[in-house]
Amino acid sequence: MASTCVVGLQWGDEAKGKIVDLLCEEHDAVVRYQGGANAGHTIVVGGVTFKLSLVPTGVLRPGIVAVIGNGVVVHPPALLKEVETLSAQGVDIGDRLLISDRAHLIMPYHLIEERLTEESTSAADRLGTTRRGIGPCYRDKVGRVHGVRVGDWFDADRFREHIGRIVAYKNRLLNAVLPDYEPLDAAAVADEYLAYAERLRPMVVDTTAWLHDAIDRGVRLLFEGAQGTLLDVDHGSYPYVTSSNSSGAGIAPGSGVPAREIQRSVGVIKAYTTRVGGGPFPTEQDNEIGERIRRVGREYGTVTGRPRRCGWFDAVATRYAARVSGSTELAVMLLDVLSGIDPIRVAVAYEDRSGRKIDRFPSRLADWERCRPVYETLPGWTEDVSKARSVDDLPAAALDYVRFLSKQIGVPASIASVGPDRTQTIQLM
Ligand code: GDP
Ligand code: IMO
Ligand code: MG
Repeated sequence: MASTCVVGLQWGDEAKGKIVDLLCEEHDAVVRYQGGANAGHTIVVGGVTFKLSLVPTGVLRPGIVAVIGNGVVVHPPALLKEVETLSAQGVDIGDRLLISDRAHLIMPYHLIEERLTEESTSAADRLGTTRRGIGPCYRDKVGRVHGVRVGDWFDADRFREHIGRIVAYKNRLLNAVLPDYEPLDAAAVADEYLAYAERLRPMVVDTTAWLHDAIDRGVRLLFEGAQGTLLDVDHGSYPYVTSSNSSGAGIAPGSGVPAREIQRSVGVIKAYTTRVGGGPFPTEQDNEIGERIRRVGREYGTVTGRPRRCGWFDAVATRYAARVSGSTELAVMLLDVLSGIDPIRVAVAYEDRSGRKIDRFPSRLADWERCRPVYETLPGWTEDVSKARSVDDLPAAALDYVRFLSKQIGVPASIASVGPDRTQTIQLM
């Protein structure tokens, strides 16, 4: 009985991949439970960089089983390409990757629908999605009539019929709103997907049953969150969120494993804040501070290459996120990026539109976007901390900063990270 989850507590890219990779040492299987190829998790091992998107990070460690759970949305060409890239990098996936037959498939029309929604929205209101078809696929999943599951592959005739009905409907709809729309050929779409099925079918299982058996056998499970708690469709900064439950709340629906099985919940935070795409960002630093963080932290999206928006740590939002995700410990990442910034600010409260101080994360976007951060100012440090390997190697101001964040969030910090490599990690407890 030793299941763990790793969940981002901000707006994604908190360096969850690095923590999942480290925790693989104490686990036997890694499970993705939501999201899809919108995720980009970078892991650096001995100078070699691996980028994972749909494939669970655990696959980098020999012997670890990697599970794509029912809550994930799978784009087969993206998955096959990723498996090929990993193989070319020497990662032998063999029979270690399992894909849920309940997971939904991202289809070609999802990509077109997403482009349409994004491009028909004004630049100011645009969500700024990764355009990987995530939103339209989840929309069809909850809409039920047009959902396509991985398991549908197993009956080719029914699959063709189902795709035929959906494509006819989508063609009618898209034709009406897109002047230059080239109707999709249902038979060609079905053929294309059945060809993917040939290659992926050996990996497809009822992952829920597999996970239940695994728990009975004492397999140690590690749940890998994608995106972050503040991008959760229910609990995040709606509508500037992704379309899944990317907080800890998504684990049970996205895997079939009840929350009570998870004893340890690692909340991953950056020592500052970043955000890709649209939406309010009260602590954003659209100035030299933000530019410095972007340059030093190499804050460019793994999936889309977009520059990430950068700003000070927001303890109001993160405190809330830790409660939603049930974090029992924190991993504080990219501490090295703050070296040389003095002083450092942390938003410890907000001031609402009437000037009232609040320390709760507002549920309504209209209230939140009018909030101004109330900062506490902390001393910075000048030393390069990237070679620190123990608490004693850290400057006092850096350690005090980590303690301050932990106190603000109300959760103990167990790990500090001072660089992308596996070895650039400090155990705090
Ligand atoms: P994820 O999506 O949460 O897994 O995070 P990403 O991989 O998108 O972004 C985190 C980035 O920070 C990656 O490029 C990592 O290699 C890098 N990284 C991880 N930990 C550290 C750290 O402590 N310091 C620095 N400078 N980079 C880090
Ligand atoms: P990882 O797992 C950061 C953001 C997009 C956009 C919003 C909706 O690497 O942390 P979507 O394509 O999901 O419909 O886009 O969510 N977003 C991420 N931001 N890290 C991610 O994943 C993200 N996945 C989606 O930029 O604002
Ligand atoms: Mg990422």
